[in-house]
Formats: sequence, structure tokens, C-alpha cells
Amino acid sequence: MKGVILAGGSGTRLHPLTRVTSKQLLPVFDKPMIYYPLTTLILAGVSEVLIITRPEDAPSFKALLGDGSEFGIQISYAAQDKPAGLAQAPLIAEDFLAGEGFCMILGDNFLYGSGLGRKLQDLQAARGATVFAYRVKDPSQYGVIEVDEGGKPLSIEEKPKNPKSNFAIPGLYFFDEKIVEICKKLKPSVRGELEITDAIKEYMIRGELSVEVLPTGTAWLDMGTYESLLEAGEFVHIVQSRQGMLIGDPITAMKSRSNSK
Ligand code: G1P
Repeated sequence: MKGVILAGGSGTRLHPLTRVTSKQLLPVFDKPMIYYPLTTLILAGVSEVLIITRPEDAPSFKALLGDGSEFGIQISYAAQDKPAGLAQAPLIAEDFLAGEGFCMILGDNFLYGSGLGRKLQDLQAARGATVFAYRVKDPSQYGVIEVDEGGKPLSIEEKPKNPKSNFAIPGLYFFDEKIVEICKKLKPSVRGELEITDAIKEYMIRGELSVEVLPTGTAWLDMGTYESLLEAGEFVHIVQSRQGMLIGDPITAMKSRSNSK
């Protein structure tokens, strides 16, 4: 299974923290931010990872993560020259993907929950696209999905002023090989970006979108603001010091993956 981490972007909401450092390298308690989405991919069963960064940040990511052998996976790198939207990632990753489906995660997304790894592993072979729905108090700053009682998707909107539901779409997606063709046809949104929500909408229109509602008790945080960055660090600190186990640690994740085989 292949995975892509999108770790580009200028992180303006975190200035001055991100003036000279990539957001995804900032500390989240005792680890760099990118360790957390990397761990999620490892728990999902991914063995080949492509990390997309700004060209100027690539040397730092390479110095930190190398070729992935330390974690028992293969890591390669690609550059996003301009932050032109999340839906650029499958296009940048086209050669790496070589016509296969994959799991994509945003480099600032933190996910933690009981049984999450197993659930993600079960989704690997799914056709079409799978996204998650996570209940939040204020969904207007995210992609928002509306589902019927049977879990069928009804609508998808990016950062709506009047959200139709409380379900945000976390930055973790499973796509089949059709994503590349779909993203090639997208037009930039009003904010001038190729929106991943538009690609997901296309899967919905084709009747090929599955939605998994994340259970209560799952932690999902995007770490793109001062508050959410601090909250993620506090969460990691609290759980680790209480349980005496590392979370968001790629080596620990790989050990638990090998043991559960
Ligand atoms: C992006 C996506 C949005 C998604 C969010 C998750 O938003 O566009 O659909 O819900 O990530 O973190 P952005 O980080 O660009 O604000």
C-alpha cells in the first residue's frame, strides 16, 4: 500500500513560528509534527511513502526522515513549487503512484483512537474513494459532509459559511487510481486552489464515495493554528505520561503492526 503526506504550504496562520521552519517540522510535545501523520500511515499498513514539501524544506525533511529504513518503510520526496491546493498532490505523486490507489494524509493532521489502525487497514482494497466524517462544534473552517441515516453522502462543501451538518472531513483520504484523472480536470476554486473536496465531490456524483463516521472518543486535530498546535501537544503529553507509551512514534507503530500480523 502506498501513502502520500502533503507537507507543503506556507503555514501563514502560524507566523512567526513558520517564517523559517516548515509547519510540519514544528514540535508537537516531544516529536516533530510529521511523525504523527507518518505514524497514521504506518498503522494503516503503508510501506511506501511519498512526502511532498516546499522545495526549500526538502533538505530538512530528508535529514529528519531519510529513506525511511529506520522505520522499516521506504520514503521518497517530491516538491510542490507553489501551494496551489491539496488536489495538486495526486498530480505531483502521479509517477510514484504508477496507476495504483493510495492513502493520502495532510502533514498537519493528528488522528488517534482505539482500533483506528485496524479500521484503516480494512479500507485498503476499497474501490472509489473513502473519506471520514468527524463531528465538530464549528465545521465552517473545514470541508463539510452531509450524510443520510444510512451513511450515504448527500453534499460536500469546502469551508461553508452555513454548514449543512456538523461533520468535518479530516485530512485523511483513500483514493483509487482514478483520482489523478479527476484532479487533472479540476478548476481552481474562488480561493484560487485546486480543492480536494471538489475531487471527492466527483466521486460522490459517480456513486463511488464511501464515508466512515469516526467514533466518539477518536481524537482528530489539525495542528494549523496556535491553539490546535498546543492542544495536540497537551493531548500527546497527557496520554503518554499516563500510559507510559509513545503515541505518534513511527518505530513503536511499526512494532505493533508487525506483532499484529
Ligand atoms: C483542508 C481541506 C479541508 C479539510 C482540512 C482538514 O483545509 O481543504 O477540506 O477538512 O484540510 O484539516 P485547509 O487545511 O486547507 O484549511
